[in-house]
Amino acid sequence: MTTSEIVHSIFRDVPELSNGVYIAHEFGSSENDRQTSAAFSDKWTSLTQEDVDSEGWKQFQFDWYLRCYGYADEAELAADLAKHPVIVDAGCGPGYKAAWFARLAPDSTVIAMDLSESIFRAADRYGDRANMIFVRGDIANTPFKEDAVSLVSCDQVLHHTIDPPATAREFRRIIAPGGQLNTYVYATKALPRELLDEHLREYTKQLSAKQVWELSDQLTQLGKTLSELEIEIDVPAMPALGIKGGRQDIQRFFYWNFLKCFWNPQHGFEASKMINYDWYAPSTAFRYTREEFLAMIEGAGFNDLFLHSEEACHSGRFR
Ligand SMILES: C[S@@+](CC[C@H](N)C(=O)[O-])C[C@H]1O[C@@H](n2cnc3c(N)ncnc32)[C@H](O)[C@@H]1O
Repeated sequence: MTTSEIVHSIFRDVPELSNGVYIAHEFGSSENDRQTSAAFSDKWTSLTQEDVDSEGWKQFQFDWYLRCYGYADEAELAADLAKHPVIVDAGCGPGYKAAWFARLAPDSTVIAMDLSESIFRAADRYGDRANMIFVRGDIANTPFKEDAVSLVSCDQVLHHTIDPPATAREFRRIIAPGGQLNTYVYATKALPRELLDEHLREYTKQLSAKQVWELSDQLTQLGKTLSELEIEIDVPAMPALGIKGGRQDIQRFFYWNFLKCFWNPQHGFEASKMINYDWYAPSTAFRYTREEFLAMIEGAGFNDLFLHSEEACHSGRFR
């Protein structure tokens, strides 16, 4: 099929094209969606092309994707992608994962979709790829026909939509029988961290983007300082608060139980700061237990093929 035939086969009504991007929606359906989109637009436009394209950063994300979705290596992912003629990267950010899929599956069409302005950056960067299409739109209310696509990859995004179970049902609507959903949500943390996170997200809603970047800078400084102490402590288990016991690095102890103060010397200061911004800037960011995650996805009509959980997240491949 030509690109034009594919475009006509997937969209209910083909949206207007602007700078290489089909504009289905410019804003989400709620105030929270608008805030989330604005927070990510600000994040992606604050980063330089070098930050987004840094090989180390992309490789870290690719390795994490393989681990979270149970692929032994790139070849196994490529074989899975090749089974799907139309793939959607739902909430693609600056598009590097969609471009990775397009490279690994040259005979498939990859639709890169995001609500924020990052989609223009994706189209600028990867618009020359013959098997990619760029859409500005809301993944909770897509412009696609029923059964129009075969694989939806929604990596680190579902929890940012206003009603994640409804978004999962929208994926079920657009995925053809026999198709697949790869998705990921944040995991619920210890109680003090949950309480503080909720409070901080309410607070950051009232701040300007500049002030949230300043807060992220301070959190990164804290993470770096604690980490450089290289102190381990014996933590008594506090199951009533969800705090695990055992010998723990003091920065990790703070991080998992009280406050997101991410620091990783391999990523460096700016990338670590971006991760802290990512956590506190969007006002919608639901967290789930493994059972809640599974119930939500199964409730939308999917069965699991592979399920993965770690301290930060739950993820899986679903049919
Ligand atoms: C944490 S980033 C993840 C980006 C990318 N999936 C990755 O793994 O690098 C979340 C992205 O989801 C997008 N997003 C959030 N809510 C959305 C929605 N309702 N529709 C489309 N995109 C959305 C944001 O604009 C942002 O680019």
